[in-house]
Amino acid sequence: MINKLEQLKEEAIKKIKEIKNLDALQNLEKQYLGRKGELTAILRGIADLSIDDKKKIGRLSNEVKNELKENFLKIKNIIEARASDASFVDVSLPGKTIEQGSVHPISQMINDLDDLFSKMGFMVLDGPELESDHYNFTALNIPADHPARDMQDTFYIDKENKKGELDMVMRTHTSPMQVRAMQKYGAPLRCVVPGRVFRNEATDATHDTTFDQIEGLMIGEDISLANLSAVLKEVLHGLFDEELEVRIRPGYFPFVELGLEFDVACTICKGAKCPACKHTGWLEMIGAGMVHPEVLKYGGIDSKKYSGFAFGIGLTRLAMMKHKIDDIRLFNSGDLKFLKQF
Ligand code: PHE
Repeated sequence: MINKLEQLKEEAIKKIKEIKNLDALQNLEKQYLGRKGELTAILRGIADLSIDDKKKIGRLSNEVKNELKENFLKIKNIIEARASDASFVDVSLPGKTIEQGSVHPISQMINDLDDLFSKMGFMVLDGPELESDHYNFTALNIPADHPARDMQDTFYIDKENKKGELDMVMRTHTSPMQVRAMQKYGAPLRCVVPGRVFRNEATDATHDTTFDQIEGLMIGEDISLANLSAVLKEVLHGLFDEELEVRIRPGYFPFVELGLEFDVACTICKGAKCPACKHTGWLEMIGAGMVHPEVLKYGGIDSKKYSGFAFGIGLTRLAMMKHKIDDIRLFNSGDLKFLKQF
């Protein structure tokens, strides 16, 4: 009989803990403690026991009864509190997982580039994304009506200035910061400008309407292409674990005199040709050259005393090559499956 009572107690307590609503709790209480309940059924056999045993079992059954009552009451209170109090916190429930974000691969690339260039004494500057026609084109030796304006499909802002001209654009490159920086800091000068740029382009695996570049500018008394080459080599070595194959060819940009383009062998297909390199095995990564004297003039710098180099790196393409991402559109897609990998 003692065993039966203990067993009944354990079983009842286990069931009480699983109860979630008051109706079920009431039924369970009836099942164990009611007049026709299980405890009563056990106690029916008490009549046949000796006086001593009757006392012992009587005491034990009272204990079991009280303990069960206590348990029923406790759960009842919890259920009632939960129903009436919106701020009730059930500490026994499993916790909510807190989603952890990660740094976007473009931001990671900007951080790495900022570190590398800072170590070489370059200031890191920020420039406006909504830029004037003057800084985006004219001051870069691309006058109005110059065919070079067509090199970059531009988003013009639909707002006329006092002269009735559309003179604001979403900057098509980070180069407008060249003249802004010269005007603000003068020579000698070393700066980089990472940031977003915009082009009215049809999108595909290597083109998007919004992407990132990093502009670089170094002006001093004896600056030459040798300095440009040394700086770019240092940066590419700092960014990539693998050795990159680089191809240098002449390039035309109105704001440099002696213009160069640097192509990087596609790290995704290793030259086997894939959509990320437009099936050529190479990616145009960097435009560069010696700053045009006309641009130095716009910046208020004496081109007889100073010379300098400038470059614009396709920062988004750099991130594609580093992480072997074969479609540029993924960066701005907001796709968590993509972003969670970084
Ligand atoms: N701004 C040029 C582009 O976006 C790149 C460039 C920068 C070229 C600086 C030369 C010097 O294509």
